[in-house]
Amino acid sequence: MSSDERIITRQQVGEDYQLDSDLRPRKFDDYIGQEKVKTNLEIFIKAAVERSEALDHVLLYGPPGLGKTTLAHIIAEQMGVNIHVTSGPAIERPGDLAAILTNLEERDVLFIDEIHRLPRSVEEILYPALEDFSIDIMVGKGPSARSLRLDLAPFTLVGATTRAGSLSSPLRDRFGVVNRLDFYSMQDLCQIVTRSADILGIEITEEGAKKLAQSSRGTPRIANRLLKRARDYAQVKADNKITAEVADKALEMLEVDSYGLDEIDRRLMHTIYNKFSGGPVGLDTIAAAISEEAETIEDVYEPFLLQLGFLQRTPRGRVLTKAAKNYLGLSDDSPEQQKLF
Ligand SMILES: Nc1ncnc2c1ncn2[C@@H]1O[C@H](COP(=O)(O)OP(=O)(O)OP(=O)(O)O)[C@@H](O)[C@H]1O
Ligand SMILES: [Mg+2]
Repeated sequence: MSSDERIITRQQVGEDYQLDSDLRPRKFDDYIGQEKVKTNLEIFIKAAVERSEALDHVLLYGPPGLGKTTLAHIIAEQMGVNIHVTSGPAIERPGDLAAILTNLEERDVLFIDEIHRLPRSVEEILYPALEDFSIDIMVGKGPSARSLRLDLAPFTLVGATTRAGSLSSPLRDRFGVVNRLDFYSMQDLCQIVTRSADILGIEITEEGAKKLAQSSRGTPRIANRLLKRARDYAQVKADNKITAEVADKALEMLEVDSYGLDEIDRRLMHTIYNKFSGGPVGLDTIAAAISEEAETIEDVYEPFLLQLGFLQRTPRGRVLTKAAKNYLGLSDDSPEQQKLF
């Protein structure tokens, strides 16, 4: 099973697009949770609107599926401006970015997803654009080449990233507003599941919503995906109503447990225990052992295992905690230590 096929994958997969657009909150009132981030942004947006200015540049970071793209759209909506959507890897050359920037209108939002993946040469022309709303472009070639300064309309860059640590510090420093999105509470997730069920026109009990929320890894995208699968189950087998029992059956079918963990999480933890005596073990070594990319482990699987307290990050590598061993039903001693006795 690759990470694309996992039900709990936090990356966006094909069927998500339609679902996402139906379920995606369009205004702050529908955006559940992340109260601190919301309050901050609402104040800054109101102030900017009152002054008829562009909002300061905003950086949003946190694990996949927590609502960064959704927030970027809400920001533009609340500002009453257009949003231009692109991503770090899509902008290959400085000229690509120059074309985008010169097309922005006053106060528009430019949303760059995966901003940590912008090529360095592109990043460099972004600096003056962010600071002075101007860019220097080279015209001509060879000895006759000269640099030409172009003024831009004041705009707001909204950058999203799963790894703020990979951003260069000159780029990070140019964001006036930096917001980290956290995993959602059970209560928030219940509310999200209930709201989504309502939009999809499926009945769900409070207990049913709780079950789905509990297995969602603190992540709205996963909550919505589990809901969709439970809906299928309810439609075929249970009179179109998601009760606790129906939710349990659906989760069981998906092999997702009440912690939201699935077979790959468990394999990752078993591997650290069995092959590396519970750690510490380096990320690349784990990646090779379970045939996943190190970046995927770091961005997708690991944050939630850290959050659960099942994994610890130490300078010498990842360590499996006692809580994880309890969960897996393993002895607290590593297999090698056991052999000694
Ligand atoms: N606060 C929220 N309230 C309700 N639903 C939410 C919220 N945040 C996200 N969602 C739902 O989760 C889905 C995924 O959110 P979104 O695409 O914004 O995540 P993301 O952080 O951009 O993920 P990625 O890092 O993969 O790009 C949305 O379609 C939306 O339906
Ligand atoms: Mg996104």
